[in-house]
Amino acid sequence: MSSQDIPEENLPAAQDTAHGAVGVADEKHPFADPGLPPHEHRIQDVDERAAKRSERSVALMFTVSMLATIGFIASFVAIPHDKSVYIFPIGHINALNFALGLTLGLALFCIGAGAVHWARTLMSDVEVADDRHPIEASEEVRAKVHADFKQGAKESVIGRRKLIRNTMFGALTLVPLSGVVLLRDLGPLPEEKLRHTLWSKGKLLVNMNTNEPLRPSDVAVGSLTFAKPEGLEQHDHGFQNEIAKAALMIVRIQPDNIKDKRELEWSHEGIVAFSKICTHVGCPISLYEQQTHHVLCPCHQSTFDLSDGARVIFGPAGHALPQLRIGVNDEGYLEALGDFEEPVGPAFWERG
Ligand code: FES
Repeated sequence: MSSQDIPEENLPAAQDTAHGAVGVADEKHPFADPGLPPHEHRIQDVDERAAKRSERSVALMFTVSMLATIGFIASFVAIPHDKSVYIFPIGHINALNFALGLTLGLALFCIGAGAVHWARTLMSDVEVADDRHPIEASEEVRAKVHADFKQGAKESVIGRRKLIRNTMFGALTLVPLSGVVLLRDLGPLPEEKLRHTLWSKGKLLVNMNTNEPLRPSDVAVGSLTFAKPEGLEQHDHGFQNEIAKAALMIVRIQPDNIKDKRELEWSHEGIVAFSKICTHVGCPISLYEQQTHHVLCPCHQSTFDLSDGARVIFGPAGHALPQLRIGVNDEGYLEALGDFEEPVGPAFWERG
């Protein structure tokens, strides 16, 4: 419908639209600007007792937020990690998670609800319209922003409503503490744990499949054997963390075919032990090519030459697989002669 179709008495009067007044349709602006509806005063604008009631409601919400944040911190400290509670209709859930979620949610909700209630009932609700203007801010505009800011602060009655201001500052100050408390869950720092494994002098090499200590005769030429340190059992606490560092690949290579001098010295009759953890991003290596003595990581195809210090011959891995120095004890079992001399697995920033 064009403006010509609208009865003249329904057309808004021509006024300055930049200040929220109506405009008229013409050739350049074919749609009439209906303008803003007349402003209606809220009860809080005309009744100070109603305004006080709203003020108290807002302050109550900010206060509840503060209490919820304190409850969050208290829950974190007081509730055991393994305690569970029955919550209808969810069922049994972890009590700590439930308390943290409930209190943090309440703290944030009350800040939001308090701010919305404050804006709707006590801040100025005069609607204004403004035309688009160039993006760059001139001195004049900046001065206007400052003036608007001051005006906004005045209209928000933050100076006059001290109870709201103080409780809001309290709520906003306390709620970030929840994040600070949660930082505790990031620790502890790994410290030296990434540099050491369970291997130490005299630890027997145990077959990962049979759980039996290995003798040199158990390692045939061309076979690939996986080993773990003696004493590390699957049901042990922290087994996954320890095996992720200590897992070994053992192969037997004719000593004449070992090209790397140090590798030969650290072997026993051609039996060599290398970390099974890929130095790219830590996948377990599992594919062995017995003719070439190459092992292949299935994740991104890094390939290592076990006859040449396990150096990388293909793929994204950054460095060779660490070798474990081994020997044989008095009872004829294969044993470690110490820990790895470098961290196993992917490079990390301290390694350089
Ligand atoms: S993890 Fe082995 S190649 Fe990527």
